[in-house]
This record gives sequence, C-alpha cells and structure tokens, in this order.
Amino acid sequence: MTVAPLQPAAARIRWLAAPSSTAWLEQALARPDLVLIDHAHCERKAAGAALQLMFRYPGDEQLAALLSPLAREELEHFERVLALLQRRGIVLRPLAAPPYGSELSKAVRRQEPQRMLDAFLVAGLIEARSHERMALLAAHAPDLEMRQLYGDLLASEARHFGLYWLLCEQRWPRRTVIERLVELAALESRCLAGSPASGEGVRMHSPGVSSSRSGRRTDRPADPPACPPCGPVPPPPPPRGWSPGRGPAATGSAGARRPAVRGD
Ligand SMILES: [Fe+2]
Ligand SMILES: [Fe+2]
Repeated sequence: MTVAPLQPAAARIRWLAAPSSTAWLEQALARPDLVLIDHAHCERKAAGAALQLMFRYPGDEQLAALLSPLAREELEHFERVLALLQRRGIVLRPLAAPPYGSELSKAVRRQEPQRMLDAFLVAGLIEARSHERMALLAAHAPDLEMRQLYGDLLASEARHFGLYWLLCEQRWPRRTVIERLVELAALESRCLAGSPASGEGVRMHSPGVSSSRSGRRTDRPADPPACPPCGPVPPPPPPRGWSPGRGPAATGSAGARRPAVRGD
C-alpha cells in the first residue's frame, strides 16, 4: 500500500528525535495481521515493564500509585487487541522481537539513582514511539476497525508517557531529566534507523524513521503541548498521597508541563 507523505502533526512527537517514516507505515499497512499480533505483545510487555518497576522499588508508594493503574490499563489494551485478533481468526503466536527494546535496555545505567531515571525515560520513550505509530495507524489503516482501535488507544498511550515524565520530575530537576532524555531519545531513533523491515519482519518497533528533522531541535525536547492526533491529553488521576502543584496531573488540561506530541 502506498501512503501519501505523512502530515507533520501526525508524525512528530516532542520526545522523539526523529519521526517514523512513510516507508515504515507502508510496510505496516501491508501486514496488519503482524502489526496486531506484535501490538498485543507490546501491550503485555508494557504492563510487565510497569510491574517490574513496582517490584524493583517495592517501598515506593508514589511510584506504585502511578504505575499500578498504568499496568492495569495496558492489560486492558492487550485484551482489546486479543479480542480483535480472535474476531479475525488470527492466532496470537510468538514473534521474534526486534532489537529495539533490548538495545534501549542496555543503555540503562547500573547504579542508582541513575538506573531509575534511565528506566523511566526508556519506558517513556517506548510509550512515545508507540503512541506516534498508533496515531499513524489510526489515520491511515484501510479498515475501520483498526482505525477505531488505534484512535481509541491514543489518549491513554499519550498519558502513559506523561506518567513516566511525572515520575522523573518528582525525583530530579528538570534540567537533569532533559539532559539524559536528549541522549536516550537520540539512541531511540538510532535503534530505528536503517531499511524498514518488510513482510514477516514488520513490527510496531521495527526500523523506519525519517532522517529529515524539519527544524526539530534535539537539544530541547520538553515543554510539551497537547497531542494533535487525539486532542488534549487527559491528566492521570491524582495518585494517593501525592501533593498537587507539579506535573501533568496538576494542570488539569493539556498544560505546558506535559510531555506529549508536538504539532508545530
Ligand atoms: Fe497500551
Ligand atoms: Fe502504554
């Protein structure tokens, strides 16, 4: 399937150092069955990543208050994709994962507290990329059911990377967060560089990013606005014991503190 050049608003997210390419989207639309299977696995992995952090930092109630609902929501997404697969008679078979996730994990530093910061930022970047690619599928998938699925998931995926941002801002100065974010965002885009996978190799996080940055500033990824494809990002429910005044939950709208999709 040939896709018209992507609209900047749908293809650029503030956290990401490079937008996904039209070539990735074309390959994804050529194998919707694989995209859906891999997406189901991604939702399960996202739930697992949140739970893993809760186990790694078992005494951190603030972290648990944010990540427990996130994990639950990811499993709800998993169940929704699974139901769609079953309606279509597609088997949820294991798929070889692209190196994307493991390459990003290798960049997480071993020592605390850097390990925690990196883990939040890597998880947030994966959420951001997932959100960006879901937005492309919501806009370009040929069948209504897929467009509806991805359209429905957009807002919560945007909120998820907002939650990881919030976890960072609760613990480190913004400057510290941004400096490390710039490094990891560059790595994230490098992990997706190269020729887009085709056929059986297509995945939600398979290679396919544009080298064109279109004025993108890589030294300043924060100060997020709303998400153009899905509108203002709803704030997460205030976690128990969390004092308002900082972060996306306190803004009540798509405020300037939320790390979301860039549309400029
Ligand atoms: Fe999800
Ligand atoms: Fe998510």
